[in-house]
Amino acid sequence: MQNNRILVFGCIGQVGWELRHKLACLGPVTAIDYPQIDLSKPDSIRATVRAAQPAVIVNAAAYTAVDKAESEPELAMAINGTAPGVIAEEAKRLGSLLVHYSTDYVFDGAKQCPYVETDAPNPINVYGKTKLAGDQAIQAVGGDFLVLRTSWVYGARGSNFLLTMLRLAKEKPELRIVDDQIGAPTSSECIAQATADILAQLLAAAGGGLGECSGIYNLTSAGETSWFGFAKALLAQSAAAFGFTVPSLIPIRTSDYPRPARRPANSRLSCQRLAKTFGIAMPPWEDALSLVLETLVEGASPDNPR
Ligand SMILES: NC(=O)c1ccc[n+]([C@@H]2O[C@H](COP(=O)([O-])OP(=O)(O)OC[C@H]3O[C@@H](n4cnc5c(N)ncnc54)[C@H](OP(=O)(O)O)[C@@H]3O)[C@@H](O)[C@H]2O)c1
Repeated sequence: MQNNRILVFGCIGQVGWELRHKLACLGPVTAIDYPQIDLSKPDSIRATVRAAQPAVIVNAAAYTAVDKAESEPELAMAINGTAPGVIAEEAKRLGSLLVHYSTDYVFDGAKQCPYVETDAPNPINVYGKTKLAGDQAIQAVGGDFLVLRTSWVYGARGSNFLLTMLRLAKEKPELRIVDDQIGAPTSSECIAQATADILAQLLAAAGGGLGECSGIYNLTSAGETSWFGFAKALLAQSAAAFGFTVPSLIPIRTSDYPRPARRPANSRLSCQRLAKTFGIAMPPWEDALSLVLETLVEGASPDNPR
């Protein structure tokens, strides 16, 4: 790599926001989001990358409105499916490394144990199809890339399940939560930290490309739970600090909570490849949850929802 400049897309999003802080120690970070860049417009991507000439591009921007994607498939495909290929082309042209994020929703959830990177994808909603198209576009271009597949992202800011639960807990005496989808809630902070740890290793390595390390990696917290289990844990841990009484929690089935987009029943991803290649062990989801709640309680987040 000729320099250590890092270009981050999606810096106002959950993961992108954490990235710009975590990556700052690795090199000069240029962090942008819509409308400075519009991933639905390939020319916007090309002009931005060519002006920045980065050694690393980290794409945390995406169309993430899973239900809305069902009625906006073209826009979702442009941002999630086509744009990653354009970014990959630009990265390859510069000899840069591309880090991109993907999702458990590329799988149908029928497998009875955690998915590995080589399992055949079979998305069951528009969002998953567009994200899979993005993964495949990057693979087709080749070059040096890491596609990091994560799941159930939440954090101290942004739009996510944890913040929704904290809001609803103050408003409602009873919450009905889906208990038959299993996965690993993964904090944006943990995703950004793992990304920084991987990049630190790669930037420290003398020259050369990623070689056989290029590819797809699962990147989620350790352990598993359901949305119901996640809600129970986060509300139990935060009720006293936020001054609310834990509502009555009712476990329900996915079929009791119809949504425009179908969700996989099994979102578990095995992170063994990540551990073996980069020596990175992701923390248990319960530990990461405690840290995010501490951040919220201490008011360390600029967007504290209290
Ligand atoms: N959230 C999850 O549960 C989850 C689960 C698995 C994988 N992932 C993946 O993880 C990555 C990060 O997700 P996240 O939760 O951090 O997403 P996020 O909070 O929704 O942030 C995505 C960012 O991308 C921006 N964006 C949307 N359309 C754009 C466009 N046309 N041009 C440029 N920027 C645009 C968004 O801006 P606006 O807010 O203005 O639209 C937002 O700032 C994504 O690749 C996502 O697919 C997320």
